[in-house]
Amino acid sequence: MINVAFFDAKPYDMPSFEHYGSLHDIRFKYLETKLNEDTVDLAKGCDVVCVFVNDTVNAAVVEKLHEYGIKMIALRSAGYNNVDVKACFGKIHVVHVPAYSPYAVAEHAIALLLTSVRRIHKAYNRTREFNFSLSGLTGFDFHGKTVGVVGTGKIGRIFIDICRGFGMKVIAYDRFPAKDSGIDYVSLEALWAASDIISLHCPLTDETRHMINAGAIEQMKKGVVIVNTSRGGLIDAEALLEGIKARKIGAACLDVYEEEADIFFEDHSGHIMDDELLSRLISMPNVIVTSHQAFLTEEALGNIAETTVNNILSYYNNDGICDHELCYRCGNIEQCKKDRKQRCF
Ligand code: NAI
Repeated sequence: MINVAFFDAKPYDMPSFEHYGSLHDIRFKYLETKLNEDTVDLAKGCDVVCVFVNDTVNAAVVEKLHEYGIKMIALRSAGYNNVDVKACFGKIHVVHVPAYSPYAVAEHAIALLLTSVRRIHKAYNRTREFNFSLSGLTGFDFHGKTVGVVGTGKIGRIFIDICRGFGMKVIAYDRFPAKDSGIDYVSLEALWAASDIISLHCPLTDETRHMINAGAIEQMKKGVVIVNTSRGGLIDAEALLEGIKARKIGAACLDVYEEEADIFFEDHSGHIMDDELLSRLISMPNVIVTSHQAFLTEEALGNIAETTVNNILSYYNNDGICDHELCYRCGNIEQCKKDRKQRCF
């Protein structure tokens, strides 16, 4: 029996984990709390911890987990910026779900974009009150507009395909441009300057943190629409707010927010919101916020559970193999000596 401490458990992800876990000898200990330095003791007695995007797996947490004999940290997400993978190296294996449904995220980005540009959120509220006025609902055609895509991995490419279907001109920036992809790569500066819409699909790293800041906004077109379904830290939210107040930014569609960890995924409707920046952003008529739900489709939830269970089993059942392992060298392919399908240490 493999015991897994499942942090930040939610009603929507438990059924699929129960299903796949019960097919094997895996028992999940569901914990509503997030993993951090105060809650790490709850992992005692388990073999694996399973975490999501807002659990904090810093060096101090890793030390404790190692002390408690935890063998593996299994991320239920693709992004892993919340895990100190360097601190884990040589101590605890880290695995993630590289792709559960890139379509889910790309389609959500488009849903946000269409909602925002065609003012669907406003129309919905109006017609519910039998207000059929069209004033203030004017949008713009996607056709012929330039969309700048930052990060042309799995999600970015699907987003690009959908945009092309709308007849948009696509330009892109990626630190590692895909060869022979037919994508028109430009510098980040050129992308800021030429885009009517900018959509972020790159990971959050030291290099990408606050890539959209006051300086970048300065270079953008007046009226630009910014979409972020990647990670909140890619955008300096204060600079974004200033850009909106200055009427430079036409609209912002945010599925992620830098300080989301203690806010998103929970019902705060009966409480006073302490985060003034988020409150101010939400109060803007041209900002749409969803609470990190881009991944939330039935297909994605099933894939996350199945891949996570297989990742865990790979450590126990296949000597020397650890599926979808991450280590601090993942971002530096030249340094990585790992053969495909071998443990990192
Ligand atoms: P991917 O790994 O397939 O693609 C990421 C792309 O970003 C790669 O092409 C890579 O070369 C590029 N990149 C790396 N460093 C860069 C830099 N400094 N500047 C520009 N590009 C850079 O990842 P995938 O699956 O497309 O996911 C993208 C991001 O979406 C994830 O990192 C994650 O943060 C986010 N995500 C959000 C979800 C949500 O529910 N909102 C769900 C899943 C992922």
